[in-house]
Amino acid sequence: MTPIKECLINKSTKHNPIWLMRQAGRYLPEFREIRKENPNFIELCLNEKLSEIITLQPVNRFDFDAAIIFSDILMIPFGLGQNVDFKKNFGPILGEIEIDEILKLGDYSFSKRLEPVYKLLRNLKHSPKLENKDLIGFVGAPWTLLVYMINKVSPKNGLSKNFFKDENLIKNILKILDRFVKLHIKNQVEAGATIIQIFDSWAGLIVKDFEKYLYEPTASLVEYTKNLGVSVICFPRNIKNFKTYSDIIKPDAINIDYNVNLENILTDLKIPIQGGMNPEILLTDKETLKNETKKYLDIFKDHPYIFNLGHGILPNTDPNMVDYLVKMVKDY
Ligand code: CP3
Repeated sequence: MTPIKECLINKSTKHNPIWLMRQAGRYLPEFREIRKENPNFIELCLNEKLSEIITLQPVNRFDFDAAIIFSDILMIPFGLGQNVDFKKNFGPILGEIEIDEILKLGDYSFSKRLEPVYKLLRNLKHSPKLENKDLIGFVGAPWTLLVYMINKVSPKNGLSKNFFKDENLIKNILKILDRFVKLHIKNQVEAGATIIQIFDSWAGLIVKDFEKYLYEPTASLVEYTKNLGVSVICFPRNIKNFKTYSDIIKPDAINIDYNVNLENILTDLKIPIQGGMNPEILLTDKETLKNETKKYLDIFKDHPYIFNLGHGILPNTDPNMVDYLVKMVKDY
């Protein structure tokens, strides 16, 4: 059994496996090299040869316990026919939603548009480089995808005032997402993903109707994924009530963000925990990194704990700091 599965399934506290959110990407010079030649991000995600190379880049450098596929949560809106562009120093820009077109979309057409993602997983499934490591597939949670699909840009760049105005549109999109996010999960699992992570990066924006936007849609995905026989890790960034979240949604593990109070989370969560450390710590110095890493390892020493960050690794991170971090976690 892989070290991460030991933790998730056997609840082992013997070792702390490690991987990092956004490990495949911009902080690596060898990624930037490829990216420079491939200005269209979506096309790069759909290039199964290059996305295989990028997925393996961090695993070649560091002793991570998992590879996460090089893809994006916005591949789902893309698969639904919504235009998705990435603008440098700005982020994603989505096109209009053609709801009537989406309602006519069949499973086959969606899966066909995203076929390179599944091909990537099939190619990696038996890679000798991933021996005894997990291959992580992922999706955005319905809420976070809804936010991008309706707002068209990241809420970082401002949230539309009319966001909640069209309740009917929201209801329709959540229904569509339930169907196609499940299909995307199923396709990834059939192609070789051994873990699914659900990213709910904007969960913290929900202030009411938690049941409708957060609990019900995510619980449904978690149950679906577990029934496919793979583990599922949820990352509800910046939520307040982890205990309720965990009790209702029942994931195999929760990735915590860096605002979480560590003593409280230990009493609140009985399931394995992943992540937490502020990615900015990797921008400081080795001494600070050592102390901060040790803080997490100490607090969770009797709890099944997968080392990871409280959000994605930052683009200006020095790979040497990542190397130092991985060695420290392995030597603990
Ligand atoms: O973890 C990995 O290394 C695997 C690949 C991965 C990417 N995006 C590649 C990527 C994963 C797991 C994601 C998840 C993702 N994408 C999330 C959830 C996690 C989070 O960070 O909150 C979200 C919200 C997105 C949407 C998205 N994609 C945004 C907002 C942006 C632009 C800003 C940014 O973070 O870079 C992207 C682009 C993106 N996705 C890049 C990469 C490597 C950068 C592309 C580039 O080189 O310009």
